[in-house]
Formats: sequence, C-alpha cells, structure tokens
Amino acid sequence: MISPVDLATNVALSVAILFVSRFVWNYIRSPLKSYPGPFATSFTNIWRMQDVFKGRCDITQNALHRKYGPAVRMGPNHLSLSDPSLIDQVYNTKNPWVKSEMYNVNDVVVGGVRLSNLFSTRDEKWHSTYIRPVMSLYSMSRVQDVEDEVDTTINLFLEKLRTHFVSTGKSCEMSDWLNFFAWDAMSQATFSENLGVLEAGSDYKGFLGRSNQTLDYFASICQIPILDFLLDKNPIKRIGPPTFVWANIFSLEKLQERYQEMSQKAAPKSDFLAKFLEIKEKNPELVDDNAIILYLLSNVLAGSDSTGSTMCAAVYYILKHPDVHRKLRAELRSANLSLPAKFKDIQGLKYLEAVMRETMRIHSGVGLILERVVPSGGLTLPDGRFVPEGAVVGMNPWVINRNEEVFGANTDDFIPERWLQSPGEADEAYKVRFIKMKSTDFTFGAGSRTCLGRHMSQLESFKLIATLFSAFDMELPGPNHQWQVTNSWFLRQTNVPVRLVEAKN
Ligand code: HEM
Repeated sequence: MISPVDLATNVALSVAILFVSRFVWNYIRSPLKSYPGPFATSFTNIWRMQDVFKGRCDITQNALHRKYGPAVRMGPNHLSLSDPSLIDQVYNTKNPWVKSEMYNVNDVVVGGVRLSNLFSTRDEKWHSTYIRPVMSLYSMSRVQDVEDEVDTTINLFLEKLRTHFVSTGKSCEMSDWLNFFAWDAMSQATFSENLGVLEAGSDYKGFLGRSNQTLDYFASICQIPILDFLLDKNPIKRIGPPTFVWANIFSLEKLQERYQEMSQKAAPKSDFLAKFLEIKEKNPELVDDNAIILYLLSNVLAGSDSTGSTMCAAVYYILKHPDVHRKLRAELRSANLSLPAKFKDIQGLKYLEAVMRETMRIHSGVGLILERVVPSGGLTLPDGRFVPEGAVVGMNPWVINRNEEVFGANTDDFIPERWLQSPGEADEAYKVRFIKMKSTDFTFGAGSRTCLGRHMSQLESFKLIATLFSAFDMELPGPNHQWQVTNSWFLRQTNVPVRLVEAKN
C-alpha cells in the first residue's frame, strides 16, 4: 500500500508535469513568440495575472513599452499595443473587433442562466440591439436633462462637508467622500433617489466595499478567464466574490416603486428611469423590464466608481500643483458662478477644461488593456510585423495617454497647459495639435464599445470640481504628501486627507 507521503509526492509530481507540459505546449503553439516581452509570457498568462493582481499593471506596461517598443507580448496569445495610429483599426465602429473572453468574467449567473450586460457582452449584434434605443439619452445635450439631480447631490455634498469638516476643522478623506458623492449622484440621476451614503457619511450598507471586492476579482481573474469557470461560474458551488445582486434588487425595487407612482398619477420625473420607461412605451417589442434593469445597472455600476476616481484625481493633482490651483481659482472667481455651478456657465472656462482633460489623460478611470480578438485577415502593424487572426490585442488608456508624440513632452507630469494654446503658437497649429490629442485620448475607450456615459461623467465631474474649488480653500497635509493608488479595472485611491475652509474671495 502506498504511504500518504508517497501519494502526496506523486500527486505533486503529476501536477508539476501537467503544468510543465501545458507551458511547453503553449510555447510551441504561441503565434507571438517572435514578439518581445517578459520571457514567461511566451508560455503562460500567469505572469500577466500576477502583475495585475499586484495593483499597478499600468506602471509595468508603460515600462515594458519603453523597453520593447510598440508591440509587447503579454501572454502566449496576447499582445499589448501602444501605437495610437492603430486605435481606429482595433476599435473600429464599422466592423467591430470582438471583445476577448476577459469580458465574460463580468457576466452574472442568475438561477443557472448566464446574463451578459452592455459592457460584458461579446455579441456585437446583441449589443447594438440593446444600446441603440438608449444611446441618444447620453449625448452631451441630453445628459443635461438630469442636471437638477446632480445639483441636488452637490448641495447635499456641500452640506456634509460643512458639517463634518469645515465647522470641525477635521480633515476630509476625499477618496471616500468623492466616491460617496459619485455613487449618490449616479443613483439620484437614475432613480431620483440617492443611495444614502453621503447622508450616512459611510458605506453603511457595504455596497461600495463589495463593489471593490468584485472588481478586484474581475481584474485578476479576467486575465485567465477559464479560472472563472472553476470559481464564480462553476455550477456546483460558487467560489467567487460578492456579486452585484444588491444592485439588481435595488434597481428592481425602484422600477416597481415607479410603476406604483405612475398608477397613482404622481408628478412625472425627468431621471434616466423615466426616460427608459418612455422608450419602453415606444418600443415594447424591444425594450422590456429586463432591458430596463440592464440600463439601470449600467448607469450605477459603470458610472459611479469611475467618475469618483476621476474627481478624486482632479482634487489631488490640483492641490499638488499650487500654480494650477491658483490659476483655476482665479478663473472660477472671475466667472462669478452661482453654486452649484451650472454646466452652461462653466463650458467656456478654458482652464477648468484643461485641468479636467489633463486629469483624465494622466489618471484615466480605467486601467487595464481593453482586449479585442484579431479578425480573419490578421493585423499588419505599421512596422510591417504581422499578428495572425485569433490573437488577442489591446491598448491600455494609461499607456496610450502617455504617448509623447501626441501629448508632448513629460507625459508622466500633470501639465494642464498642454491643452491650451502656447504663447507664439499659430491658431491653426494649435487647432491641429488639440484635435490630435482629443481624438487620441483613450480614457473612455474607442469605437463601437466606447463608454456610453462619458458625457454624464463629464457633466458631473466638471460641475463638482468647479463648485468645490469655488466654495472652499483646500489643502493637503503638505507638499510631499503622497496618495496610494490601486489599479483594479477602475483606479482606486486612498490617503487624500484634505483640510477645507470657506473660500475667502
Ligand atoms: C470617468 C468616468 C468613466 C470612465 C473613465 C469610463 C471608461 C470607460 C471605458 C474605457 C469603457 C470601454 C471599455 C472597453 O472598451 O472595454 C467604458 C464603457 C462603458 N461605460 Fe464608462 N466610463 C466612465 C463613466 C461612465 C458612466 C458615468 C457611465 C454611465 C452613465 C458609463 C457607462 C459605460 C457603459 C455602459 C460601457 C459599456 C459600453 C459598451 O460596451 O457599449 N461609464 N467606460
């Protein structure tokens, strides 16, 4: 009879042999062996996964592109691209390249049925069927329909800042409070009702914390999506992170409440839910209650952490750069804004726009490679190298947005002036340079799957930053203060303690 020690040794040996054979097989079959990259990536995706798990894969990827050039092997079948001239091809609108399997991890299984969403689906036809009816609601002019809802949340935010911090002299942890604001604002714009996190001054129901845990899981596991079948999606016993089921329940409750209000002839609302219901009435064959839940979830889950992260980055970078802070304050003061700042009043503020563009460029809310599958015919890179059909390629906003040919020198530095006309620069030359930067900016992705909510996020973040810097004088603990940043699909910050006093104008 075999002893337990021998048995364990044999099992360990078999597993090791299995792994090694798999790696050798991957290496032999890899169509991307000739591309440069860390050696381990020629036979395994584990290297990429462990790097994402560590929380700053954007730094690694920028370093790899600096070392190896515009195409870096990130796995036996994965390539990271940094040449912005390929954006229009890889993320084209006419014949969209299919999203890779990394996005499947974002699906949820309810009652044994796998459900995709607008972000996760790889089926372009399904995607265009469901996105088309609602797309126009997210144009820059239409998102202004919910400006009053955003103002309601800004007023609540100002009130809480005054009560908890201005009047007590305590520091405000902006990474938390701006995230509370972002979740409440998206919920308010969607259902005319916030989540209650600003009021509570905490993640009192644990929604935000759970969302972070889910994103941590998505970010790492989507690098090797097959692991998701063994963990979250296994049919025997789920071994996964907390799901977004709370958001489903919340959305369903709000939808039922709205039907009840409508049956009682309550005053009509102008939030996203009201608009989705109008669309349902016009296209009942296409938009049913399930589709409405899909839209509600997209708003709250895709639009909250991402926008909160951008606003936190704006506050941090402005306060870290006294010169930028001073210029922004001067512009806001001379605009003599009524608060909360109205979007129409801040649209012409050039320095504010430059500050927000630069924030999103240097600290994009999404930080992973947005993967696509190379279609039949393959991809020929500008330098003549060939990427065969079936390979997975993609770009990371944190890499594209640091391209010095497009954005000028020192792209690791926060310099809002790069978005403005330089002294002596001809009008035409500035126009060309500005359009090039604007069209290359990859913060919101590109092509058929570009961010649906980019205008909503801009409305919210531009208004909030203009209001905050008009209302208060703010400072970080000192010039050397450093925040902590984690890249986990969305970018998450901690340690942004800000002292606030009423602005002295
Ligand atoms: C600063 C804030 C935001 C950033 C940085 C951001 C970024 C992105 C990016 C990069 C994508 C493309 C992902 C890909 O190609 O794989 C995306 C997709 C998406 N975003 Fe955003 N987003 C933000 C805010 C919002 C808001 C406020 C909403 C909703 C109101 C939203 C809804 C969506 C949806 C539904 C998709 C999927 C679109 C599709 O596949 O058609 N996002 N976002």
